[in-house]
Formats: sequence, structure tokens, C-alpha cells
Amino acid sequence: MVQVGVIGLGMMGATHLGVYAKRDDVDVVAVAEKNPDLLHGKAQAEGNIEGQAQRGADLSTAAKYAEGLDLIADARVQLVDICLPTPLHVPFVTAALDAGKHVLIEKPLARTHADAMKIVEAAAQSDRVVMCAMCMRFWPGWAWLKRAIDEGRYGRVLAAHFRRLASHPGGPFYSSAEACGGAILDLHIHDTDFVQYCFGKPDAVTSAGYAHPTEGIDHVFTRYEYDGGPMVTAEGGWAMAPGFGFVMQYTVNFERATAVFDLAGEHTLKLFESGRVEHVELPAGMGYEHEIDYLVRCIAEGRQPQAVTVAQAAESVRLVEAETSSIVSGRRVAL
Ligand SMILES: NC(=O)c1ccc[n+]([C@@H]2O[C@H](COP(=O)([O-])OP(=O)(O)OC[C@H]3O[C@@H](n4cnc5c(N)ncnc54)[C@H](O)[C@@H]3O)[C@@H](O)[C@H]2O)c1
Repeated sequence: MVQVGVIGLGMMGATHLGVYAKRDDVDVVAVAEKNPDLLHGKAQAEGNIEGQAQRGADLSTAAKYAEGLDLIADARVQLVDICLPTPLHVPFVTAALDAGKHVLIEKPLARTHADAMKIVEAAAQSDRVVMCAMCMRFWPGWAWLKRAIDEGRYGRVLAAHFRRLASHPGGPFYSSAEACGGAILDLHIHDTDFVQYCFGKPDAVTSAGYAHPTEGIDHVFTRYEYDGGPMVTAEGGWAMAPGFGFVMQYTVNFERATAVFDLAGEHTLKLFESGRVEHVELPAGMGYEHEIDYLVRCIAEGRQPQAVTVAQAAESVRLVEAETSSIVSGRRVAL
């Protein structure tokens, strides 16, 4: 049994609580939240995808703290789950590791690459399990894609396009580009990270983008260059009009098949091969369930996560910064 404490009961804290509620090998022994209504269950955060922010866990016996640092000091907590605004990731991860706790930290790993490297260094000096919640690596249909690429199941990838679009989520954290980093860091990083996961570090990036409605980059289009490799592009943003919903898609063209994922589609994953279309069966659940399942197994087995390392999560922040430089300079940025 892993005894977990969740800090921050906004959208992602409520999502993680919903996952823990379904497991019998995890006990939520403490929660921390500055907003008393969220802390005491009188208000509930909303998600932007159906099934998110379910909360669900029975918190009647959990200790309740108004300040996350007090939860870290709770001796019963073995795993600190940090679902705080991005600028708080560094101080809370380092405090949790100093207190000898395992850590799950929401993405992006930190607000800047320089900050992300502080977490990489702190994790390297600790024997605790540390994982960044890069949920796309675990998302059914996306984990399938990674395996298909690695196995060369349908030949080489010729082209891959990823798309993630939404309306602006609202609220103080997402309205401050200084705090959240705009959609390029907060939303599009899912695809930046997945591109690196599948194809490695690109040789260069060329991006276009604009700021709206925050002062950060809220809609980005990037070409990731791989010399002699696949043609890879991604579009991400939360600049869409209210009511737009949530688009999460990819189209990946292999030598012998084309895979099309659409979260909102009648069939989430379609595989076109030899004139036929297969509706690929996927495991139930969202990436959050699978990432937490993986983390709990890592803790039980006393090993560091390999499916996503904090160094890789930091590298994705660096790549987002290169995309931002490309937008600001109007030039291709070599890596
Ligand atoms: N994996 C994903 O798909 C995904 C999706 C959305 C957000 N995120 C990330 O998760 C993190 C949190 O995002 P969110 O949407 O849940 O934000 P949010 O604003 O909804 O929730 C954060 C909560 O932390 C609380 N808080 C702030 N300081 C605190 C403190 N010192 N002690 C206790 N509580 C404190 C706030 O009151 C707030 O309720 C961000 O880094 C964001 O980028 C990840």
C-alpha cells in the first residue's frame, strides 16, 4: 500500500484523486489546497476532457492542509503528488525529496529549462522515485503508436502530424503567461514531448505562433526537422473560441499503413492498411490511470521510471524554449 498526499486540488489534483479512488493499493492519507472550498469538497474543479477531474476518492479520513509544505511534513505520506501551478514545481519537488518522499510531479517539469535542471539535479541526488506526469506516453493509442514505431511494424514513419487544440481554460493560473508559460508550454508540450519520445531530438525546429488570449504563445505550429528522417509537425493551442471543445489527434503515415487517432472520433484509432480500415482495440482508461499504475509499480519494485525520466521531461521544456525562440526570431533554430 502506497500512502499518498496530493497537493493542489484543482483540475489535475481532482484527476489524480479520481485515479487513486479506483485503486486498492494506494491510500490517500492527506490532501493540501489553499482554496478552502476545494479542500473541503464544497467546490469541484472542472476538467477540459470528459472523464477528467473526477475527484471521487473518500477523503473523510485524510488529513487536510491549507499549505502544501505542511503535507510534505506529514510522516504518513510516502508519495507526494504535486498538482500545483508550474512555478511552484521546483520548490515543492525539492522540499519533498529533502523530506525523503517519492514524488509525482505534473507536467511541464518546470517553468523554464534552467528550473527543470534543478529538479533533475535534486532527483539525481536522491534515492526516491521521481516521475513527471507526461501522460501522453501512457495514453492508450499513443503508447500503441510508440510501440508500432519501435517495432517497425508498418515500416518506417514517413510523416507524422500531431494536433491539440482547445478553448482557453480560464482561471488565474492559465490567464497569466508568466505563471503557465502560455499554451506552448502548458498544452503543446504534450506533443513536443511525444515527438522526442518517438523520434529523438530533432536537428532543428521552425515554429510560427501568436499570443491570444494570454501574453504568451497560445497557438503554435512547429516543424521538427530530422535529417533523412520523417517529416514531423505539430499544432497546439488554446486560442480557439469558447465552446470549441478539445481536439487531440494524430495522423502518422508509415511505409505500409496510416494511423489516425482522434479522441473525439467514433473510432478513436483507425489503421488504414492494404485497402482495409481496422478499428484498433485499445485498453480502457486515460493516460492518467496508466501513468499512475506505472509509478505505483516502480515504487513497489524500488526502481526509477524509465518510460519517462526527469531528464527527458527537462529536455522537452528545452525544446519548447527553442520553439519559442524560433517564433520570436522568425528563424529556424538548430539544436
Ligand atoms: N497532465 C495534464 O494533462 C495536465 C492538464 C492540465 C494541467 N496540468 C498541469 O498541472 C499543474 C496544475 O494545473 P491545474 O489545472 O490543476 O491548476 P489549478 O489552478 O486548477 O490547480 C492548482 C491548485 O493549487 C492550489 N495551490 C496553489 N498554491 C498552493 C499551496 N502552496 N498549497 C496548496 N495548494 C496550493 C491552488 O489553489 C489551485 O487550486 C500545472 O503545472 C499544469 O500545467 C497537466
